[in-house]
Amino acid sequence: MDKLTVSEINARGKRVFLRVDYNVPMEEKEGRMVITDETRIKETLPTLQLLIKQGARVILAAHLGRPKGQREPSMSLRPVAERLADMLGRPVAFVDDCIGDKVEKTASILREGDVLVLENIRYYAEEEANDPGFAEKLARVADLYVNDAFGAAHRAHASTEGVARVVAARGGHCAAGLLMERELKFLGDELESPARPFVVVLGGAKVSDKIGVIDKLLEKADAILIGGAMAYTFKLAMGAKVGKSLVEAHKVDVAKAALGKAKSRGVKFLLPTDNTVATPVNTGKLNKKGNPVFELQNPRTNVEPDIPDSEEGVDIGPATSLAYAAELRGARTVLWNGPMGIFEDPRFAAGTIAVAKAVVEATQGGAKSIIGGGDSVKALNQAGLGDQVTFMSTGGGASLEFLEGRVLPGVAALSAR
Ligand code: 3PG
Repeated sequence: MDKLTVSEINARGKRVFLRVDYNVPMEEKEGRMVITDETRIKETLPTLQLLIKQGARVILAAHLGRPKGQREPSMSLRPVAERLADMLGRPVAFVDDCIGDKVEKTASILREGDVLVLENIRYYAEEEANDPGFAEKLARVADLYVNDAFGAAHRAHASTEGVARVVAARGGHCAAGLLMERELKFLGDELESPARPFVVVLGGAKVSDKIGVIDKLLEKADAILIGGAMAYTFKLAMGAKVGKSLVEAHKVDVAKAALGKAKSRGVKFLLPTDNTVATPVNTGKLNKKGNPVFELQNPRTNVEPDIPDSEEGVDIGPATSLAYAAELRGARTVLWNGPMGIFEDPRFAAGTIAVAKAVVEATQGGAKSIIGGGDSVKALNQAGLGDQVTFMSTGGGASLEFLEGRVLPGVAALSAR
């Protein structure tokens, strides 16, 4: 990596403005907000422990949810600060603002190794606007800047980009945290010249979300295996009928172009040969948005090329699961992003679980397995296999943009080595 990292700076006694991605899922339980997955907090502990050991005075900034410039109490970072104190095994201070006198006073009394968490930076609309004045205000407590928020690095916001510019302009260092460094290593360097065969599994609902990644990976991969609703747009492009399956009819040309590119480059491009299908039945109820609620009934395996008009594809079928697992077994490098079906419903989780198990088997056989964040991480964790792959990204949108080869503003703003 050509960027400075936190292990290369001397932070003793310095106020370090540490941007983290603590945008964790939360649920209200008995009137309190409770964190339902603390992975993103846990993954920042190595950086925090290093800075504490170095004797830095650490000031953490993060966003939570999308409060759109409003003080939305359910999106406060206070519960996160409390959980972080438990995980670090030391007190963590919290200020219910991210700029202003209170923040500056508290920052000024921090001793070496102390940690302070600031309130949700998105309570200010200036954060997402990357307002230079706001970045200046944030930077008042920053001698050094460290970015460990890979998941937010695709955003050019004040705390991910603007503050770094201010600190750098003053001659201060802006470094990548250890998590950021790992993310860039696995999603970047490791996939630059991967050990072959390099097998990519892509799922999820939309071709439009993944086409940039598909296009980029068609230049690197030996095989690309497609699942999720995205597969039905590809099927449509090949002239098959897809019944009531979720498709993006306007992306058929894009899908055709990807199929053409795969052929011309000699990349194996596998689509499901069978599917789990179900019949959507209108329950007569409406959801919160006022749309009709459908129930998926009578699941069965469809082995025909076409899906009947009344049915919807909801998972890859057993033959496809076997074929994908066989392909993964021979891989030396695996990249997986996106579930194979509606895995949140146990009736339609078999394909995603089969892929998860095959990725783990490949890893046990010596392959490097890299999980591109989002729902595939959720699925692996749900199957209890999260600790059996080489690397799981904490990024969602950021991972996809990075895999597409786009420059992430949060990374670009860091100091060169
Ligand atoms: C994420 O959860 O993907 C990141 O924290 C970015 O959040 P955002 O999409 O609201 O910017």
